[in-house]
Amino acid sequence: MTLFLCKTSDIEDPGSRGFEVKIRRKTQDIFVVHKNGEFYAYIDSCPHTGAPLEWQENQFLDLDGELIQCAVHDARFLIDTGDCIAGPCRGDRLQALPLKIVNGEIHLDL
Ligand code: FES
Repeated sequence: MTLFLCKTSDIEDPGSRGFEVKIRRKTQDIFVVHKNGEFYAYIDSCPHTGAPLEWQENQFLDLDGELIQCAVHDARFLIDTGDCIAGPCRGDRLQALPLKIVNGEIHLDL
């Protein structure tokens, strides 16, 4: 099953966007990051406390657009793997979600 999220052109590179989706009948906040032409999706839940990561709506990246940043206690995560490389949950990782890009559209591939 796939779930349409948005067009690839809807997210700047680098950039990010949050979505509320239904996964297995459960409403879930997720986000998609666009970086160097690639797209990555994660559950919007910091491994440290489970809090949402963004510091402003649709703003999941640090100011340089190089890392995913948790606004709560400043953990930093690699964009392509979700690995936490700095902060209180270092060594842990974000929960990745599979994406499918079809005809310029981003779909969650569930
Ligand atoms: S909740 Fe994310 S670093 Fe603490």
